[in-house]
Amino acid sequence: MRLCSPLLVCLAAGLSSAFVISPLHMWTKIILTHHWPTTFCSMEHCHPNISYWTLHGLWPDKGIDCNSSWHFNSSQIEDLLPDMKKSWPDLLNPTSASFWKYEWHKHGTCAAKAESLNSQHKYFSKALELYHKLDLDSILRKFDIIPSDKYYAFSQIEGVIENFYGVKPKIQCVHPSKNADFQILGQIEICFNPDFTLLNCEKQITMETISKGGWDSPVGVDKASGFSVCDHDMPVYYPPFQ
Ligand SMILES: *[C@@H]1O[C@H](CO)[C@@H](O)[C@H](O)[C@H]1NC(C)=O
Ligand SMILES: *[C@@H]1O[C@H](CO)[C@@H](O)[C@H](O)[C@H]1NC(C)=O
Ligand SMILES: *[C@@H]1O[C@H](CO)[C@@H](O)[C@H](O)[C@H]1NC(C)=O
Repeated sequence: MRLCSPLLVCLAAGLSSAFVISPLHMWTKIILTHHWPTTFCSMEHCHPNISYWTLHGLWPDKGIDCNSSWHFNSSQIEDLLPDMKKSWPDLLNPTSASFWKYEWHKHGTCAAKAESLNSQHKYFSKALELYHKLDLDSILRKFDIIPSDKYYAFSQIEGVIENFYGVKPKIQCVHPSKNADFQILGQIEICFNPDFTLLNCEKQITMETISKGGWDSPVGVDKASGFSVCDHDMPVYYPPFQ
């Protein structure tokens, strides 16, 4: 017993400090996730006809499905719909609102704990605003990261993003098979503080996001979709739109 107690005290101290940093219910980081339609559709067998990075979601680092009684209602974002269809399309079913509904329930209802995002209109319009401000697609092109048949070094892609925005992104790839000697660029996450200033994505990984993984979990391996953090030493294929 006596041998155990220092360890237990240590563990307890570690746990409590992890939870005291901020109020439990409030997120401290929000992640704007972009995906590359060609990569997404090569896995999901869709035909997007889109050759620019589109929005996947705006994900707070704490909480999943925070309020199941707060139903998605597209008439509250009617003015945003033309931009939503262009910038945040449902690649699987372009005429459906089900992707937005899914993202609202899973992430939006949690983001809404902040006053800045406490309505559907605020949540979706902020995501669109950040997406246009970042203008990731143009930045990559401007610095010669262009979809093509040649491979990129991972550091080249990461370097362009890091140099331009001044923060570390999280970049996810698809690994076509265990033995493949290349990986396919799939998803790029840019992170923000609660005041929507840029933040390094690696900071502040909380216990909750690790334990509550899901299909578009902010952390680690994205099981169902096959995305995982890119390997730093493996060539990256950035597939052109066919
Ligand atoms: C793809 O988009 C282009 C331009 O928006 C359009 O002209 C073309 O018909 C589309 N192709 C298909 C297969 O939908
Ligand atoms: C959940 O959403 C409903 C509908 O907007 C709202 O009335 C209720 O206060 C919310 N509950 C919590 C715990 O935020
Ligand atoms: C959806 O929002 C509109 C506009 O705010 C409102 O009039 C309508 O009652 C809402 N629909 C539902 C099912 O809540």
